[in-house]
Amino acid sequence: MPSSTLSVTDNRTGKTYEVPIQDGTVRAMDFRKIKTSDDDFGLMLYDPAFTNTASCRSNITFIDGDRGILEYRGYPIEQLAESCTFLEVAYLILFGELPTAPELDDWVYEITHHTMLHENTKKFMEGFRYDAPPMSMLISTVAALSAVYPDATHVQDPANRMLQIKRLIAKMPTIAAMSYRHSLGFPYVYPDNDLSYTENFMNMLWKMVEPKYAANPVLARALEVLFILHADHEQNCSSSVMRAAGSSRSNPYLCVASAASALSGPLHGGANEEVIRMLDEIDSEAAIPAYIESVKAGKRKLMGFGHRVYKSFDPRARLIKEIAHKVFGVTGSNPKLDIALKLEQIALQDDYFVSRKLYPNVDFYSGLIYQAIGFKPEMFTVLFAIPRTVGWLTQWQEMISDPEQKISRPRQIYTGARQRPLPPIAKRESAASGA
Ligand code: CMC
Repeated sequence: MPSSTLSVTDNRTGKTYEVPIQDGTVRAMDFRKIKTSDDDFGLMLYDPAFTNTASCRSNITFIDGDRGILEYRGYPIEQLAESCTFLEVAYLILFGELPTAPELDDWVYEITHHTMLHENTKKFMEGFRYDAPPMSMLISTVAALSAVYPDATHVQDPANRMLQIKRLIAKMPTIAAMSYRHSLGFPYVYPDNDLSYTENFMNMLWKMVEPKYAANPVLARALEVLFILHADHEQNCSSSVMRAAGSSRSNPYLCVASAASALSGPLHGGANEEVIRMLDEIDSEAAIPAYIESVKAGKRKLMGFGHRVYKSFDPRARLIKEIAHKVFGVTGSNPKLDIALKLEQIALQDDYFVSRKLYPNVDFYSGLIYQAIGFKPEMFTVLFAIPRTVGWLTQWQEMISDPEQKISRPRQIYTGARQRPLPPIAKRESAASGA
C-alpha cells in the first residue's frame, strides 16, 4: 500500500522529511520544520494570488474547472436553474438542504418581512450626489447598516448571525433599487410584500404611477435564474475578502461591504459592465479582427473571457446564453449580440485563446441581457452583488463555525532595506529623484 506522504529532501542539508498528504493537499505548516539551522525560520510557501493554495475546507460549492461543473451543495447548477426559485436556492446554500414546502413558506415570509429600510437609511442615501454610481451607493449603504444594527457585532451568537443574514438578503434588493432610482432622479419605491423576491425588486426599480406593479413573467424568471447562477462560487476574490474580513470578527455589514468592494473591480464582478463598454468600442463586426490583434499584443484584455478555475467552459455562461434568447424574445435583440457572438466565434478559433484555455465567462453575456431588460451598465455589478450576498454570508458562517480557522494573516518575503541609520533631514535624498 503506497504511503500518503511526500518525501522531501532538502539539498541544502541533505535531510529528508515526510510530509503527510490529505485530500490531495499538504499542510503549509508542515514545511516550517524544514530548516538549515535551529535559528532558521523554516520554509514558507510562496503563492501570490493564491493560485494553488486551499484556504479552507468547504462543503458549500463544488467546481470542476476542467469539466465545467458547478454544484451548490451537490446539486448541479443546471437543475437548480431549471426548477428552483432564487430564495429556494438561497436556503439550500445557507442551510445545506433544499427546503420542504413549509420551510420554504417560512423562509420566504422571513425574507419578505425584512425588506424595509429604516427611514434614516433612506435619508442617508438621499445624501449622495445625483450622479453617484449605484455600486458605490450600495457598498456605502451596506456599511452604514452596521450603524443601524449595532447588535450585529455579536458574531459568535448563531441566532444573532441568522438575524443579520436575513436582514442582508432581504435588504440588498431594496438598497440596490434605491441606488438605481437615485441615479435616475426618481422617488424611491417601497417593497411590496405580495411579490416574489425578483418581482419585488423589479417593482422597486420600475414602478411609476400605476397602483400595482406587474413584472413581465419571462423577464422576472430570467432575473431569477441569473440570481441563481450568481449566488455562490466558492473561494473567489470577493468571498475570500468576506472570509478574511470576517476572520477578525468584524460585523457582517462591514464584511459584506468589503466583499462587494472586491466584487466591483473590472477583473471580477465589474467585468460585465466592461464587456458592454468593450462591445461599444468595437462597434461593428468588421472591427473585431483588429481588436483581437490588440488583445493578443497585450494592449488590453478581452473582457468576459478567461477564468482562474474554468479551463474548458463556464457552465453559467452556457445557461446565460440560453436565457438571452428568451429575454430577447420579449425585449427584441440587443444590437450588440451579433458583435458578441462573432467575437466569441473568432476568439475560440484563435490559438492565443485556445492555448491559454480562455473561454467566455459568466460576465460575457450577462450584461447584454441586463441591458435588454433595461438596466444601465453602472447597475450590472449591483445585480451581481444582490445574489452573491447569499454566498458571502454562507462562506462567512462556515468560516466562523470552523474550529481550524483563525484570523487571516498571510506571511511575506520581505525585499526591502534593513537597519538603516536615520539621516538628518538636510541629508535625505528625495524618493522622486530615483523615479
Ligand atoms: N484577455 C486576454 N488575455 C487573457 C485574458 C483575457 N480576458 N485572461 C487571461 N489572459 C491571458 C493572460 O494574459 C495570460 O497570458 P500569458 O500566459 O501570455 O501571460 C494567460 O491568459 C493566463 O491568464 P492569467 O492572468 O494568469 O489568469 P488569471 O487566472 O490570473 O486571471 C481573470 C483570471 C478572470 C482575472 C482573467 O482571465 C481576466 O482578467 N479576464 C477578464 C476579466 C473578466 O472577464 N473577469 C470576470 C471573471 S469571471 C466572473 C467573476 O469572477 O466575477
